Amino acid sequence: MSDVGDANMSPKGSFGVRSGARPFLQPHQTLEDFRAEAQDQTNAAPAKTLPLKDAISIIGMGRLGLCTALCLEEVGFDILGVDIFPDYVDAINKKLLQSSEPLVMDKLHKSTRVRATLSIDDVLAHSDVVMIFVDTPYTGSDRYYDVSKLGRVLNQINSRRIEDKHIVICCTVFPGYCADIGRYLLRDCKNVSLSYNPEFIAQGDIIRGLQNPDVVLIGEGSPEAGEVLKSQYRRMCHNAPSIRRMTPESAELVKLSINCFVTMKIAFANQISDIADRTPQADKAAVLAAVGSDSRIGSKYLQPGYGFGGPCFPRDNRALGSYAEATGVEPLMMRATDLSNKRHAELQVQALLSQELEVYHFEGLAFKKNCPVAIIEESQKLNVASQVARAGKTVVLRDTKEVLDAIRAEYGRIFNYEEIDLN
Ligand SMILES: NC(=O)c1ccc[n+]([C@@H]2O[C@H](COP(=O)([O-])OP(=O)(O)OC[C@H]3O[C@@H](n4cnc5c(N)ncnc54)[C@H](O)[C@@H]3O)[C@@H](O)[C@H]2O)c1
Repeated sequence: MSDVGDANMSPKGSFGVRSGARPFLQPHQTLEDFRAEAQDQTNAAPAKTLPLKDAISIIGMGRLGLCTALCLEEVGFDILGVDIFPDYVDAINKKLLQSSEPLVMDKLHKSTRVRATLSIDDVLAHSDVVMIFVDTPYTGSDRYYDVSKLGRVLNQINSRRIEDKHIVICCTVFPGYCADIGRYLLRDCKNVSLSYNPEFIAQGDIIRGLQNPDVVLIGEGSPEAGEVLKSQYRRMCHNAPSIRRMTPESAELVKLSINCFVTMKIAFANQISDIADRTPQADKAAVLAAVGSDSRIGSKYLQPGYGFGGPCFPRDNRALGSYAEATGVEPLMMRATDLSNKRHAELQVQALLSQELEVYHFEGLAFKKNCPVAIIEESQKLNVASQVARAGKTVVLRDTKEVLDAIRAEYGRIFNYEEIDLN
């Protein structure tokens, strides 16, 4: 039985469970038996026998943890991951998991060396490299992220007094976490390094992002941990990313700085668009395309459109601002970015209301354009649509059932809904 937390909760997000097929992983099944059975079920090529050094342990087999597991197994690693939901663990092992995240179900069906368990002890015994992917939601408090689940995991690891392992935090944490909290929580472990290795990926594009990153950020807890992670990424990436090795403290800052810079660029593009909209004969698309053609600037994220949203950009920008304040630096950039994102939406609402239409239509309401997963968190198009509806207008939202269900749950009857099939 699980010793890792509340086992009665159910999985969420873009990952779900389908019932009805026979079990895949049997209790106390050996790895060889597991491989043989996986072979029978998938008709895939036989798994190569791997040396033990090619094993990796994962704690938290959610969106990012499972995708990382699948990408690592594809290049020959043997993965054992722990999670706290029995049904979810079962669904991974039986390959019954339902996910709208591109490539996940396909890779899971083909996989032969990704297993899930409820036992953290089995996972800690499986490999010397333990990657942690538990959720750290933004709280808005002065601690920015809720790191309580991560703290619980590190406490569990410490209580086992493990030796000679590399622990790698892949969750988003606030700057200073590894030094002030992480290392302290692992104080009874011997010869254990603690590294910070966050990913720069977005939901709806996780696997492609993991296999083709621009940057791999390794905040190494020891030079050996840095080498291990570097060779892991060299194998996993399909491209040749810039691999940046540094202290965990630097890496914590880089993670937030990159996301903050991108949000600043989007906010800048939108502010220039708003100025162009109020300038007779000016064309915002032409203006931004020309600005982006300067190689010092670049055209990525420099198009006119809705503001930034989603589960990462807004929170990482605000978190860096809060951290800046804690260090005594006034977070002028982060504040302006956040505020200008809000103002841009207000100007978009004003422009729409001035058209005095009978009915307003919005299509594609997820947090970013053409997003294949139903995530509406801080979606700016949805924010604009809701402000138009609250101004008393009839607003029709057109999207997939999954996205509309998520919106209905939050906004109820203020909109009219029209389901569309994107396939
Ligand atoms: N998903 C993304 O696109 C993305 C992008 C960048 C960064 N991140 C960061 O990665 C981390 C994980 O994000 P996610 O989207 O995969 O979250 P998620 O909620 O999808 O997955 C977290 C998983 O951890 C499991 N878990 C919680 N407590 C546990 C415990 N004690 N032991 C074992 N498992 C436990 C949960 O059951 C869940 O399956 C977060 O810090 C997030 O900020 C995610």
